[in-house]
Amino acid sequence: MDPPGRRSLAADGLGGMPDRAVPVEWQVAADEGFRRVVRHGVEIARPESAHSVHVELDGLDPGAEYFYRFRTGTEISPAGRTVTAPAPGARTRDLRLSFTSCADYQAGWFTAFRRMAEDEPDLIAFLGDYIYEYGDYKYPVRDQAGGECLDLAGYRLRHAQHKADPELQLAHAIAPWAVVWDDHDIENAWAGDVPEQPDPPFLQRRAAAFQAYYENMPLRRAQRPSGPDMRLYRTLRWGAVANLHMLDTRQYRDLYACTGRSGTVGADCAERFAPNRTILGAEQEAWLDGELRESAATWDLLGQQVFLMEMDWTNGAGKGYSNEGWDGYVASRNRLTAALDTYKRNGVVLTGDVHSHWAGEVKRDFQDPESEPVAVELVTTSVTSAGNGLDEYPNTGILLQENPHVKFFNGRRGYVRARISQKEMRVDFRSLPRVTEPYAAAYTSGSFVIEPGAPRLNPV
Ligand SMILES: [Fe+2]
Repeated sequence: MDPPGRRSLAADGLGGMPDRAVPVEWQVAADEGFRRVVRHGVEIARPESAHSVHVELDGLDPGAEYFYRFRTGTEISPAGRTVTAPAPGARTRDLRLSFTSCADYQAGWFTAFRRMAEDEPDLIAFLGDYIYEYGDYKYPVRDQAGGECLDLAGYRLRHAQHKADPELQLAHAIAPWAVVWDDHDIENAWAGDVPEQPDPPFLQRRAAAFQAYYENMPLRRAQRPSGPDMRLYRTLRWGAVANLHMLDTRQYRDLYACTGRSGTVGADCAERFAPNRTILGAEQEAWLDGELRESAATWDLLGQQVFLMEMDWTNGAGKGYSNEGWDGYVASRNRLTAALDTYKRNGVVLTGDVHSHWAGEVKRDFQDPESEPVAVELVTTSVTSAGNGLDEYPNTGILLQENPHVKFFNGRRGYVRARISQKEMRVDFRSLPRVTEPYAAAYTSGSFVIEPGAPRLNPV
């Protein structure tokens, strides 16, 4: 008989499971040996949900460690560890949060997930591109199953292959995850209901990608998709220390300024500044404003996809801004920075997408040279996307010089880990020398401390 990892890649659309409902028993225990089981139950795994189950629990102790496992038939899962958030407002121990993005299976080994798991964080935030929808590369580091994801079976197969990866399994087993998608979870550079490619019909494809995403991610019923719509944005609270606002900059955004396509636009692109343009959509913007207005936590963390701070990507005299990041939606950015300023919030923006580490200070208004920072942005590199990379590129120095609010760059793969208390936030950018071979050791390429009331990056 094939091992489970192989069977789950069967091209039968059922992930190797029989075409019938299967009961799945689950247990939650206060100890790793499952002597003190505190909750247990049965969920029915159905073929129409690709035999996924979502167990929603209440009544667990706040700020506590638990272990869980599943059983169906004669198969027992390995135990997973999880941690519950401290009670609202509670003074509590630090939050140890790690985050990363962009896990392209063909581009390399998922060593970053292994190294994240070894840190035993309280929470892992994944900021998009958990899968890549692409077809086969000419020279992949690892072979993927199936071609380009175009329909439900295709997206399910890609997720199944990722879930069979032992290093990704380690990261899921060590801590709870907070997840948002970016473009490749659905299709490269999609914007609202506008695809990059016209075929297959986009809302059909988006519905398939959302369904597979929901099935495979630790999401609650509140996030369950309805056709091509899925409310992913939400807030997770960690006592009095931090609120983590997970944002969706893809589903409700206006189309790309000036060209209608994702790319770099020059200083002549006035549409970037149009006051009615939005990257979050009116509803999510109003919701986020309310969350920030009501927030009483020391830190407000914004988990999201694309560069928030201004970034001139063109070396030398010319200007070049990405119309896919918040630079393409300047009014949207200004409304957010105004809210952080007005409500006196300690904003820390957590970003993915660009396959390199960056850290910078977010000014209240990038058009005003006198403007002060109101938040800090920490951009994580990828798990594998873009291959091994380099610590620095020939143009790194010029980019940092021309964008003085940007304080740090590293071009390897890896993740970011943070230790967050009411007194300070300590951040380590973790890098890997290579992902074309397994088991690379991680090193710290940059460390910073941020203090409440002072949105600055202090190098350590
Ligand atoms: Fe990516």
